[in-house]
Amino acid sequence: MTRVIAVTGKGGTGKTAITTLLIRHLTRGNKVVLAVDADPDTNLPETLGCEVHRTIGDVKEFMHEERDNLPPDVNKQSILESKLYEVLEEMPGYDLLVMGRPEGSGCYCYVNNLLRGIMNKLVDNYDVLIIDTEAGLEHFSRKIFKQVDDLIVVTDGSRRGMGTAERIRELVGELETDVAHIYVIANKVTDSTSETIIRTAAELELELIGMVPLDEMIVQRDLAGQPLMELPDDSPAVKEIENISRKLNL
Ligand SMILES: Nc1ncnc2c1ncn2[C@@H]1O[C@H](COP(=O)(O)OP(=O)(O)O)[C@@H](O)[C@H]1O
Ligand SMILES: [Mg+2]
Repeated sequence: MTRVIAVTGKGGTGKTAITTLLIRHLTRGNKVVLAVDADPDTNLPETLGCEVHRTIGDVKEFMHEERDNLPPDVNKQSILESKLYEVLEEMPGYDLLVMGRPEGSGCYCYVNNLLRGIMNKLVDNYDVLIIDTEAGLEHFSRKIFKQVDDLIVVTDGSRRGMGTAERIRELVGELETDVAHIYVIANKVTDSTSETIIRTAAELELELIGMVPLDEMIVQRDLAGQPLMELPDDSPAVKEIENISRKLNL
């Protein structure tokens, strides 16, 4: 069974950084990983250190446009499948798919329906599927991903951030996707914020699974435009991700 992990939270809290460090952990443990960037504000390829030229959005656009031109006897499912493999970026230890967005504004229900079947089949090839997603959980409401084992809400520890975690829990209740566990990771934690974070999480009855410190090594890499995959083992954020991974049994 593929373990499905979705990382969500408010923009800027560190979803992409946390996703990257979880991928760093997983690939070092020789897990076969499919990483999906499902945030329209795509930046996972950059933090992973991987160049991506085409997205699933482009494939959707192609299928949407070609739908009426394709002869009725061709198998549209297999065309979409081969197109999907073309945009699957193969990296050492993991594969990456970027969802992106189709250009047009039409209804993509037809393509989304095809995509759902293909994605669910593709996912079986991996030990872990990890999705960097936006706070709106758009791809889950379209049921592209039908089941999630661990929904990780990243918060920066501010009241607003914690409010988002609570809102996401409500949203999950309304979704048709099955979510087995919801956890919160507080990120960019400092001495002055840790106490408030622990208290707020308890008040909101959120399961706080880890507190990733504000890490100067991440700040430096971010400024230099360097990926986070090669952060050293002694980076404080990496160490906490190791603790979290242990708790999550990853
Ligand atoms: N633990 C951390 N310590 C220091 N900087 C961090 C940490 N986590 C994330 N950042 C920085 O915060 C910014 C937002 O992080 P990012 O992962 O892009 O957020 P999101 O994906 O939620 O929008 C980036 O500049 C990133 O380098
Ligand atoms: Mg991001």
